[in-house]
Amino acid sequence: MRPTLRPDSVAVHSGREDLTGLGVHALPLDLSSTNPLPDLETGGDSYESMATGGHPTEGGHVYARLWNPTVARFETALATLEHAESAVAFASGMAAMTAAVLSRTMSTGKRHVVAVRPMYGGTDHLLSTGLLGTEVSWCTEDEIAATVRPDTALVLVETPANPTLELLDIRAAVEAAGDVPVLVDNTFATPVLQNPLDLGAAMALHSATKYLGGHGDVVGGVIACSEETASALRQVRAVTGGILHPLGAYLLHRGLATLPLRVRAQQEGARQLVAWLQEQDEVAHVHYPGLHGDPRGLIGTQMRGTGAMIAITLRDGYAAAARLTSSVDLFTHAVSLGGVDSLIQHPAALTHRPVAAHARPDAGVVRLSVGLEDPLDLIDDLAAGLAQYGATGDASRRPVGV
Ligand SMILES: Cc1ncc(COP(=O)(O)O)c(C=O)c1O
Repeated sequence: MRPTLRPDSVAVHSGREDLTGLGVHALPLDLSSTNPLPDLETGGDSYESMATGGHPTEGGHVYARLWNPTVARFETALATLEHAESAVAFASGMAAMTAAVLSRTMSTGKRHVVAVRPMYGGTDHLLSTGLLGTEVSWCTEDEIAATVRPDTALVLVETPANPTLELLDIRAAVEAAGDVPVLVDNTFATPVLQNPLDLGAAMALHSATKYLGGHGDVVGGVIACSEETASALRQVRAVTGGILHPLGAYLLHRGLATLPLRVRAQQEGARQLVAWLQEQDEVAHVHYPGLHGDPRGLIGTQMRGTGAMIAITLRDGYAAAARLTSSVDLFTHAVSLGGVDSLIQHPAALTHRPVAAHARPDAGVVRLSVGLEDPLDLIDDLAAGLAQYGATGDASRRPVGV
């Protein structure tokens, strides 16, 4: 692939460089769970290489928990889009997050993690429970430097943050972290709008389930990073068994070709919805990158756009949110995001439910993932939902602490 290709061309062609030589046009899909070995010695050597984080050798792929060519092809494509040396794909975004934490604790013997709230509730839950033997210190972006300790293994940040779309300055976070590697959850921005490695981050993580797949039919995760970091991640993946299924990798790779187009069109729709939502009496606040100022000038520099995720705070809190989410028709009331169809959900009751009550999103916050429908139809749908506003939701059913 020519190094001068522009991002849209890279999205279509990355990871496909050898297809013509293979005599095929569509991406090959290899579903083998095991692979015939040429002989015991080379097979054993290849096994050893992959089990310790390396690549297959002449002995081949051996076993699909260690390596799969369809997965490796998707990794090559994603690494190219993220301006990374390497990428490692997992069975879910949370499997990727788990491997990121374990690879750091394993290689350093350090167990402290610094993380900036808000972030996805599942990540918050993973860190807060200490399930992986880590101790987490939650802080704000400005407190990173003061929170990092000699035994800190990793700094985790998310920008734009789920669900409130707050932006964090990646360069400043990297500087504040000093020698400690910074992982940026880049799920909301996608490589179309943001490349954290260019700003000094060590890892860019995606819940591939979202925009990368884009069609709501794959669960997956991926981390773009240096080859050295990738080797540590692959070792954890081989040992713990978190590799992405090849069919998922095939669908994700196919989805990458339309990623820039989808993200830009969804972003355009989101901007129209934001303008309309700002005018609605029932909406106390619209959360959208840059809408209420961008003092650090992150939009246009760190992030090449504003994305297609919106959150709104409804004036009447949980009851209004319950009413709106069950009144819409074109929006599907469901968790997840980033697909071609629009989704609506209530973070405090769902995606961020495990988060400590004091740090949980406000009960009036509803999150919208804007898809590819005509924005005017989405506005009609929300207008019909908000028209139910006077009716009272069943506040007695609100979850504890919300
Ligand atoms: C920002 C973010 N990161 C990570 C995850 C976890 O990904 P997965 O659900 O694929 O495990 C999610 C899921 O919603 C997410 O929104």
